[in-house]
Amino acid sequence: MPDTITIIDDRTGKQVTVPITGGVIPSTALRELDPSLFVYDPAYMSTAACRSSITYLDGDAGILRYRGYPIEQLAEKSTYLEVAYLLLNGELPNQTQLEVWTNDVVHHTFIHENMRKRFVDGFHYDAHPMGMFVSAVAALGTFYNDAKEIEDKASRDKQILRLIAKMPTLAAMCHRFSVGLPFVYPDNDLSFPANFLNMMWKVGGYEVHPVLERAMDILFILHADHEQNCGTTAMRVVGSSQADPYSACSAAASALYGPLHGGANEAVVRMLGDIGSLENVPAFIADVKAGKGKLMGFGHRVYKNYDPRATIVKKTAYDVFEVTGKNPLLDIALKLEETALSDDYFVSRKLYPNVDFYSGLIYQAMGFPVDMFTVLFAIPRTAGWLAHWQELLGDKEQKISRPRQWYVGSDARDYASIDSRS
Ligand code: CMC
Repeated sequence: MPDTITIIDDRTGKQVTVPITGGVIPSTALRELDPSLFVYDPAYMSTAACRSSITYLDGDAGILRYRGYPIEQLAEKSTYLEVAYLLLNGELPNQTQLEVWTNDVVHHTFIHENMRKRFVDGFHYDAHPMGMFVSAVAALGTFYNDAKEIEDKASRDKQILRLIAKMPTLAAMCHRFSVGLPFVYPDNDLSFPANFLNMMWKVGGYEVHPVLERAMDILFILHADHEQNCGTTAMRVVGSSQADPYSACSAAASALYGPLHGGANEAVVRMLGDIGSLENVPAFIADVKAGKGKLMGFGHRVYKNYDPRATIVKKTAYDVFEVTGKNPLLDIALKLEETALSDDYFVSRKLYPNVDFYSGLIYQAMGFPVDMFTVLFAIPRTAGWLAHWQELLGDKEQKISRPRQWYVGSDARDYASIDSRS
C-alpha cells in the first residue's frame, strides 16, 4: 500500500497526491489544488505546526521521552540541570560538560538589586505570585540590552543561561514578597533544587532535607518539557516575531498560568479541599458527570492513557510524606482516582490522572502555598521553552506565526448615523 494520500477537488476534478510521512501530510497539498483554500482547525486539534526533535509523546501508549530518553529513566537517574542540558543540546553532557554547565548556572543565579528593591516593591501586598512571576520574567529582560541580539549564538546562549539560572531566584522572590519575608540571596554552594528550597524557606538555621531536595529535582525533571503544549506554543508564536526570549518566556508563563494548563495543580488542591471528605466523593463525581465542573487533574489533549509523569509523581508523593507526614487530602485523591477509573464516563472518554493530579499534594506537604504551584511548574519548564525557542530560530521552514481565519461576520454595509441605530 503506498504511503500517500490523494485529494480530489470535486469542483474541478483536479487531484493531488502527497506523501504521508510520520503520520503527517503537508497542508500545502490543498493550496496546490486551490490557493484560496484553508484548513479550519480550532485549537490546532489536528495540526502539526513544526518539526521537532526535542520531546516524543505517544498519548495512547502513555510514553514520554526527552531526546529519546524515557522519562522514567531520567526521573530515576538524572538531575534537572543535566536534563536541561539534554533538552537544550540534544545529548546528555559528559563529566566536563556537566561541570562547566553547572558552574555557569550557579554563577548566574543572582538578580540585579533593582529587581528586588524597586520592581517587586511595586506589587500590592497580596499579589498572586504567578502574576508577579510572569511580569518579573519580562522585566528581567530590560536589564540585558543584548537580549534582543537573537541572531547571535553567543548572546542567545547567555540569555538561556540567565533565564534557567534566575527562575528559582525570581520565584522565591515572588513568594517571600507575598508573605512579607525578607529576600534570601542564592547560595552557590547548594545544588539547583536545594538552592531554591533554601531561598524559599530559610529563616535562621534552615537545612534542606535530602529527600525533599531529590523530590524537588524529580518534579523539575518531570515538568521540564512536554512538546507543543499551550505554553510552548505561546513561546514559539511570540518567538517567531523575533521578540527577545524574556518576553517570549513571559508569554509562555502567562499561558501556563491558566487553570486548564499549569494552573491545574492549584485547582486540584482547591477541589480536594472543597470535596472535604471521602463520603462526598460520589456526589462530586455525579456533579462532574452532570456537567457541573470538571475533575481537575484528569484528562489530557494527548494522553489517552495514564500520564507517565503522574505515576512517578504518585510514587514520589509517598517518599515526601515519609518526611512531612501524609497530606490529609491524599485519601480523597486516591478515592477520586479509584471512583473515576471504574466509571464509564471517564473510561469511555479515556480520562486518566495527569501530572497535576498528585503534584499539588506534594507541593502542599512540602509547605508551598497553593498560589505558588504554577510558579513551581514554570521554573523547570523554562528549559523546554528555551529548547523550543532555539529549535524555532534554527528552523528554515519557520516564519512569523500568522494563522488565517474563517470570516463569519457581516458583509460590507454603509456606516449608520447614531440616530438611525436601534
Ligand atoms: N473532567 C470531566 N470531564 C472531562 C475532563 C475532566 N477533567 N476532561 C475532559 N472531559 C470530558 C469533556 O467534557 C468532553 O466530554 P464530551 O465529549 O461529552 O463533551 C471529553 O471529556 C473530551 O474533553 P475535551 O475538553 O474535548 O478535551 P481537550 O483535549 O479539549 O481538553 C484538558 C484537555 C486537559 C483541557 C481537559 O481534559 C481538562 O480540562 N482537564 C482538567 C484540567 C487539567 O487537569 N489540566 C491539566 C492538563 S495536564 C498539564 C498541562 O498540560 O498543563
